[in-house]
Amino acid sequence: MCGITGYIGKNKKAIDVVINGLESLEYRGYDSAGIAYVLDNKVNIVKEQGKIINLKSKLDFSIQSNLAIGHTRWATHGEPNQINSHPHSQGKFTIVHNGIIENYLELKQELLENGYKFKSSTDTEVACAYMDFLYNKNKNILLTLNEVSKIFRGSYAFGIICSDDLNNLYALRKTSPLIIANGNGENYIASDVPAILRYTNKYMLLDDMEIAKISNDKVEVYNKDLKVIKKDILEFEGSFESSMKGGYEHFMLKEIHEEPTVFKNTINAYFDGDFKNIPDLSKYNNIHIVACGSAYHTGLIGKYLIEKYANIPVYVEVASEYRYKHNFYDKNTLVILVSQSGETADTLASLRMVKEEGIDTLSIVNVVGSSIARESKYVIYTKAGCEIAVATTKAYLAQITIFALLTMYLTNNKSEEILNEINNIPSILEENVNIDYNYIANEIYQNQNIFFIGRGIDYAICMEGSLKLKEISYINSVAYQAGELKHGTISLIEKNTPVIAICTDESLLEKTISNIKEVKARGAKVIFITTSDIVGDFYDFKISVSKVNELLQPITTIVPLQLIAYNVAKLNGCDIDKPRNLAKSVTVE
Ligand code: F6R
Repeated sequence: MCGITGYIGKNKKAIDVVINGLESLEYRGYDSAGIAYVLDNKVNIVKEQGKIINLKSKLDFSIQSNLAIGHTRWATHGEPNQINSHPHSQGKFTIVHNGIIENYLELKQELLENGYKFKSSTDTEVACAYMDFLYNKNKNILLTLNEVSKIFRGSYAFGIICSDDLNNLYALRKTSPLIIANGNGENYIASDVPAILRYTNKYMLLDDMEIAKISNDKVEVYNKDLKVIKKDILEFEGSFESSMKGGYEHFMLKEIHEEPTVFKNTINAYFDGDFKNIPDLSKYNNIHIVACGSAYHTGLIGKYLIEKYANIPVYVEVASEYRYKHNFYDKNTLVILVSQSGETADTLASLRMVKEEGIDTLSIVNVVGSSIARESKYVIYTKAGCEIAVATTKAYLAQITIFALLTMYLTNNKSEEILNEINNIPSILEENVNIDYNYIANEIYQNQNIFFIGRGIDYAICMEGSLKLKEISYINSVAYQAGELKHGTISLIEKNTPVIAICTDESLLEKTISNIKEVKARGAKVIFITTSDIVGDFYDFKISVSKVNELLQPITTIVPLQLIAYNVAKLNGCDIDKPRNLAKSVTVE
């Protein structure tokens, strides 16, 4: 949900640094991009609709500026045109913003009454004008930012330049993520680590309501009482190279190919030592899993495994629903929040809601130090590394690996059988990620509707396969419980409608095959994905996946679905890493 970067320093060209940073944050939004840089004590703004490449064509990279802020946008207020692009400027302030100011209409009214005029329809221009409005009264930038943090409702990470103090870059944050990285005689701000990795892997996290005043040589962080505080320096484990495409055509493909390593890293982190920092989970009477999108789908797999093997009831809820409904939890409930980014607004809000009720929380998060990880009582980090493609693949795989491990932990299952299975998975995955599914993609990429059907845990996998396909290939697709189709949806099946049927739970093989025959009889083109060696005329194509222990089966079954989605999107000429209307980290509600 928008990426911001900023640079102040003596050593580099600020425009270069900010644009490089924005390019590695483009996965957060790509409706428009803009930059503000200081030259001869003047703030200049260049912004352009569309991707960063459009902005680059408007910039003079020979300019030697030592202070700049930049933005790549995922539009929330106002259409994604040039006027609504960031940076926005009002009076002495120029800002970039990630987040939403919920009370901006109220503030705008007050500003209009005080003579301010607006060019854009954004909340950000209002925020900028409000900073100028307060500053005109108190003539103190820190005081102004401290005051706005009490007045603005919603979420924000701001990069701020004030023309009265061009020796400093300012930043302020609430809910939306912001990091500050230190160099020698130079400093950076960014929404996420990839933006700074080519310069340094050391950074600090700005917490809610904290203000940073950043010069070439110094970073001062103030808390909400305007006292200077000391921040921990964190170190990012990955390298700049690892966050780049590494020869693959798309980040999504690279990230699918990283899955064998991600699996190994996740297992190595937790299998031997169990989960040292988490309590005995069997003491809880019930578990709620709360998440969004693909992370929610991993929760469905978690539910299936934990209920079947650990015999604990599990309720899986979409975070944007959970936080507004009546939930049944008590002191014996554990709420598990699943999130790759650790910043998803609804998941974070659900976490805060249950924490207030005194309920224990455990998060399964990929981004170290993210808000959800820091605010949960217990945290388990997935070891997926930096995920750049908007459509999650390797982080999803890491999350289902954690659910398999949690189930083993709950059932104290460290049998030789499971250990052998675990040891075999990386080579199975290695083989799977190298299979070419283009022949399947060719059969289905021109269809307007594609169905995924399965029962039990296979249905949970279908949901993820279907989401992956629709989000990157723009083909309408739905996942259905195989037995449910005949209660209405089967009317949509006609000649050549692709139906991807999954059956890895062989106890349900016969039932699932009956359902496949129902669609086949109505002309469906069936792609049957299974662990079984059954053959027959009820499918058009069969994809065999290796049979592994049920706890680990989803880990190998998901790979063909990810690759089919990738190949279909490619045949349709879609922008695979940056699908339309989407962004990686969803920090709006
Ligand atoms: C789909 C996808 C999204 C995310 C969802 C939650 O490929 O990536 O559905 O899973 O937006 O994001 P996180 O996991 O960051 O909370």
